[in-house]
Amino acid sequence: MTAKPSILVARRLPDACEARLDADFAPRRLPGDGPHPMPALLAAAEGCSGMLVTLTERLDAATIATLPASLRIIATMSVGFDHIDVGAATARGLAVTNTPGVLTEATADLTLLLILGAARRATEAMALIREDRWGTWSPTGLLGVDLAGRRLGILGLGRIGAAVAKRARAFGLEIHYHNRRRASPEQEQGATYHDTLDRLLAVSDILALTAASTPETRNIIDHAALAKLPPGAILVNSARGDLVDDDAVIEALRTGRLFAAGLDVFRGEPALDPRYRRLPNVFALPHIGSATVETRTAMGMCAIDNLDAVLKRGTAPITPVT
Ligand code: GLV
Repeated sequence: MTAKPSILVARRLPDACEARLDADFAPRRLPGDGPHPMPALLAAAEGCSGMLVTLTERLDAATIATLPASLRIIATMSVGFDHIDVGAATARGLAVTNTPGVLTEATADLTLLLILGAARRATEAMALIREDRWGTWSPTGLLGVDLAGRRLGILGLGRIGAAVAKRARAFGLEIHYHNRRRASPEQEQGATYHDTLDRLLAVSDILALTAASTPETRNIIDHAALAKLPPGAILVNSARGDLVDDDAVIEALRTGRLFAAGLDVFRGEPALDPRYRRLPNVFALPHIGSATVETRTAMGMCAIDNLDAVLKRGTAPITPVT
């Protein structure tokens, strides 16, 4: 019998994934969930042929240079891979895989929660309940804005963006989007394409960010971009915190230029800019876009499928990052 491949498992995974790792591989784990300091992970990875990481493990070029020579694949349990220097990994001959597809529906659901929470002033409303300050029903209290008839601008109509659009149509939103390249008619489903970001911004009563974090999209929502939105727009981010310039967003929320924001991701998370916590018109969640039992299990299984393909079956990775 050939030895089971040794895998460094950086975080605790859902039970079914841990059981499969135990059955099919020789997993190495540090105590507890983590995240663990990188030197400890690197020490534990010595002699491993695979690493199963998440977006909390930053694998920059310097770190990749110190990975063990035995390593053949880095499988991240996330669709985003901005935490990995893929160029440096590829140059070392390492396969890098992510988990696209399996988290689309959960993340789209969460994006609608952000839209609804921001539009209906959920943070202020929930505070009345939790702090026992609910005086009375009021004809003019806590008025939000309707979704029906408003225009939803989607920056990044990929799998998740298209799933957001599908849900948003049921709420009566009119769908607009901007991508570098126009999406296929199947993906568009009648959404209006804007060939520049500025054109999208001009019609986005609600702007949803569903684009990957890349050098082109980092800080894309800055002072100038926010100034192009219709007054009183809503900003929603379920992608990555570094797509927005926090100073610009916070100023726009304070002045009312933005009616509200729904944010699931933050630059430097979990250490988000503390000003977000104090703004009543921010509906904030702690990066739970894919956090359902079914989806996190499917993500873990997808990462393990990739380890299995490369290390046990000797085939190409199933979902390599491109
Ligand atoms: C979550 O943010 C992911 O990239 O999977």
